[in-house]
Amino acid sequence: MARLDVTETFEGIRFPGHLHTQESLSFASTFPFRDSDTLLVTYPKSGTTWMQEILTFIYSKGDPGPAKTIPNWVRIPWLEHHYFKQTLQQTSKPRLFTTHLPQQTLAAALRKSKPKVIYVARNPKDVAVSFYHFHKMANFLPDPGSFDDFLHHFLDGSVHFGSWFQHIKSWLSCQAELGLFCITYEELHQDLKGCVERLSAFLGCPLQPDQIASICQHCSFASMSENTTAHLALIPREIMDPSKGSFMRKGIIGDWKNHFSLRQDTHFNQTYQQEMDHCDLGFTWRGLD
Ligand code: A3P
Repeated sequence: MARLDVTETFEGIRFPGHLHTQESLSFASTFPFRDSDTLLVTYPKSGTTWMQEILTFIYSKGDPGPAKTIPNWVRIPWLEHHYFKQTLQQTSKPRLFTTHLPQQTLAAALRKSKPKVIYVARNPKDVAVSFYHFHKMANFLPDPGSFDDFLHHFLDGSVHFGSWFQHIKSWLSCQAELGLFCITYEELHQDLKGCVERLSAFLGCPLQPDQIASICQHCSFASMSENTTAHLALIPREIMDPSKGSFMRKGIIGDWKNHFSLRQDTHFNQTYQQEMDHCDLGFTWRGLD
């Protein structure tokens, strides 16, 4: 299933046809969750893979075995990807899933049970930069053109996976109803140990100090670069081309400052203001600096 040039539009949002079909998206939207499931929700490039690794290590109590031997798309598969049904048979308990879908697509399914939902957010300026570079290496995404072109599409929400603004607003509007555990990429950076402790409490998965130390060591950018790159090497280069970039690219906060012109920054801030006017995120990055 290559379908590298195919785009699937579902509920008004464009998805790469290489990974999504109408059937797989419909299946996700009516998925029968269980109360014992954990759902990781992110907009692309917000730290999905990082959180997948952390969750894997929390449930393995710091044992590197599962993370080293099983690719993340099998450990914590994407609900909306076409291979999901097949992977579901192999998923061990407790079941962990990942999704990039907006809240409204999963609203009905999430009303029927109470899985634990974790939302990871990242400063959208860094998301835009990371997503731009990812478009260059992922042959299942359209050619992003110049950074200026890409930023324009990012801000008007016409990029694949839809608008960052709509995504975060849709999920955070149900924070209380879903008992959402919100965390930012920046918090993971600043205090990984504290984040792991909070997550283990939320998941009801107590950890010993040596297990927490193991998680922090294995989930550092350096360790994950080796591990993630090893798994991504399983993906054919026609699909993800390592000569055009690295998935574990920089892993830093504030790389947008190396990419944005003053004009782009002003335009971004204006759009952010308009879109997020009445939305109090309550995250560490209150501003966009
Ligand atoms: P950059 O492109 O800014 O480097 P996702 O998994 O949602 O696609 O996000 C990918 C981004 O998360 C990339 O950002 C990647 O480098 C970063 N990332 C992944 N693991 C990380 C880690 N352990 N520490 C810091 N950043 C990490």
